[in-house]
Amino acid sequence: MRQLKALITGSGGLVGSACVRLLARKGWDVVGLDNDMRQVFFGAQGSTARVIEAFSREEPRYRHHPMDIRDREGVRDLIRSERPDFIIHTAAQPSHDKAAAIAYEDFDINAVGTLNLLVAARDYCADSPICFTSTNKVYGDRPNELSLTEFGSRYDYTDGRTGIDETMPIDQTLHSLFGASKVAADVLCQEFGRYFDMPVGVFRCGCITGPQHAAVELHGFLAYIVRCAVHRLDYTIYGYKGKQVRDQIHSDDVASLFFAFYNAPRCGEVYNLGGGRENSISILETIDALREMGFALNHKQEQMHRKGDHICYISDLAKIKSHFPGWRIEHNVAHIISDMARHNYDSM
Ligand SMILES: NC(=O)c1ccc[n+]([C@@H]2O[C@H](COP(=O)([O-])OP(=O)(O)OC[C@H]3O[C@@H](n4cnc5c(N)ncnc54)[C@H](O)[C@@H]3O)[C@@H](O)[C@H]2O)c1
Repeated sequence: MRQLKALITGSGGLVGSACVRLLARKGWDVVGLDNDMRQVFFGAQGSTARVIEAFSREEPRYRHHPMDIRDREGVRDLIRSERPDFIIHTAAQPSHDKAAAIAYEDFDINAVGTLNLLVAARDYCADSPICFTSTNKVYGDRPNELSLTEFGSRYDYTDGRTGIDETMPIDQTLHSLFGASKVAADVLCQEFGRYFDMPVGVFRCGCITGPQHAAVELHGFLAYIVRCAVHRLDYTIYGYKGKQVRDQIHSDDVASLFFAFYNAPRCGEVYNLGGGRENSISILETIDALREMGFALNHKQEQMHRKGDHICYISDLAKIKSHFPGWRIEHNVAHIISDMARHNYDSM
């Protein structure tokens, strides 16, 4: 049997590293591309260098390229020489708050970097499935236009819907510059799927998390709040009374879905990907769960919400479940929180 090979961009990051581990475990050769730009965005706390060091010790099937996704010729050379059977593209500037301060870098990395990868893939491995990590921020503020009901500790949809599906329009709403650069990349990926018949899947992710998340205040809500509780750091809630809701998905569940896509790819298909209703949780509910685990959080409430923040975002997973009936969420949100708390406690 031919040895299979994957290219994973952002291989040191939360999602990329989960994909490296999954594919290496399945016997694939894995080529990683990551220049630890996360350290440049968020400082030493956000660095993913330790993850890459661990791969060089623990994953003999892993080879690393500290390349910038903006290096167009470098990306072309890499794909021409490696000809991967599968590409997972996660390298990105991931924070919508950060994007406003670094508008050029944000667009060059998120949008143009994605184009660099797509054109090279079209030219050298057009039949290899590609998974692109898009974001629910492509819907901009539109989810906030849905009628919401306020409950004691959370908001929820008044019309009783399970969650938000892929039919929600993406334009004529406020996105943040991050949302806009991801819209560009999202539509480019769809276009390479539809125009060039390439097997590209676009996954509009909500809150992805996991114990190894190098969380910082501007990116990685759940991991950051757990870290604050365990390390007794002050936490600030911005707006919506702490009743804002997110559905949380573990990075390993994202990786297993991408593998399901590799086995049953479609051209230019778009999916909303999150933990779904069962894994949805508000900030107040998270604080309660942490308190029950013995980690009372010192927090204060700012009235002003973050610009472009969703009040209630829960992914409707119906399309994913119909296209990939064998895939399911393995990590529930209570387990994710206790796992992260233990991980933080052990590393104190
Ligand atoms: N984590 C989430 O909650 C979430 C939610 C929605 C969408 N997403 C998307 O999923 C993807 C992965 O997210 P994540 O949480 O794993 O992010 P992450 O920040 O943990 O990982 C991204 C990796 O990409 C690398 N990178 C950044 N710029 C680069 C560049 N110019 N060249 C090469 N490497 C570069 C970083 O060093 C980092 O290791 C991103 O595209 C993000 O927009 C994430």
